[in-house]
Amino acid sequence: MKITVVGAGNVGATTAQRLAERELADEVVLIDIVEGLPQGKALDMYESAPVLGFDTKVTGANDYTATAGSQIAVITAGLARKPGMSRDDLLQKNSAIVGGVTEQLLAHSPDVLLIVVSNPLDIMCSVALARSGLPSTKVIGMAGILDTARFRSFIAMELEVSVRDIQAMVLGGHGDSMVPLVRYTTVSGIPLDDLLSAERVEALVDRTRKGGIEIVNYLKTGSAYYAPSAAAAEMVEAIVYNQRRLLPCSALLNGEFGLEGIYMGVPCILGRGGLEQIMEIDVTPEEQAALQKSATAIKSTLSQLKL
Ligand code: NAI
Ligand code: 2OP
Repeated sequence: MKITVVGAGNVGATTAQRLAERELADEVVLIDIVEGLPQGKALDMYESAPVLGFDTKVTGANDYTATAGSQIAVITAGLARKPGMSRDDLLQKNSAIVGGVTEQLLAHSPDVLLIVVSNPLDIMCSVALARSGLPSTKVIGMAGILDTARFRSFIAMELEVSVRDIQAMVLGGHGDSMVPLVRYTTVSGIPLDDLLSAERVEALVDRTRKGGIEIVNYLKTGSAYYAPSAAAAEMVEAIVYNQRRLLPCSALLNGEFGLEGIYMGVPCILGRGGLEQIMEIDVTPEEQAALQKSATAIKSTLSQLKL
């Protein structure tokens, strides 16, 4: 197994580190346009292997020949948000970057499976799909696991219980219109609504929707990367070990939830083939309306690009 991570910035480097430390591949290749950056970070990471005891080789390069034969590539290349910027502000620059990266990856690894992280996420998945020519089962976006992890963390903090006991699923686009499904949220099987008032639940939902900007406002020079890289690594692990995990990921919709032609966060089964199935769960009319609103926002942004 060879896995490439494109973008040796905060999310990319941390993802590469997580993949290597968990030995999810024989080799992890880190790519960036900045000379020396992927080489330096990869070497530094590999020098931690004797201490941590992992056998995954980590290399860095600016040239895609080093990525040849990759089975999976995680795309994190692009600009990150600064205070005052929305994810959509990154649209034109990141679509050019993600489009170019995708073509170079495919030129050296025609059967690669792409996990897209760059923002605006759902739109970048469409860019990668269009530029790769891959089937949509092999182009999947990371966002829902992150948004769900934030929701789970906030619930755990509020109730002072272990995060491990919180089950939740945040669907919809990776933006202000994301859809935390409160009805499906439980603490060890106990519905969240039985444990918290409607006002507190709404406050946690709101904090989740603004979870990305909360970190941006603290960091000031960039956006989150510890939780995003953990989420990307979870997707890679599900695919590498054919775990058939049911995880919220951005997938191309073809009639599911009454929507089509866009990428959006939905419950996905991930296994060796990538996206093995979209699980079309029951949603109430209110939840369906929220998903529709999210889809409308994605369509409007997507229409600004010529794919
Ligand atoms: P960063 O600025 O730390 O790293 C980005 C890296 O991409 C830089 O090292 C840069 O040199 C590199 N890069 C730029 N153009 C490139 C190209 N053509 N080829 C190869 N590398 C190139 O940014 P960070 O924090 O790592 O974020 C990366 C992207 O991921 C951003 O677009 C950010 O908004 C997005 N993101 C998405 C999340 C999600 O939930 N989907 C969560 C967190 C970040
Ligand atoms: C986040 O949600 C910036 O999309 C990124 O942290």
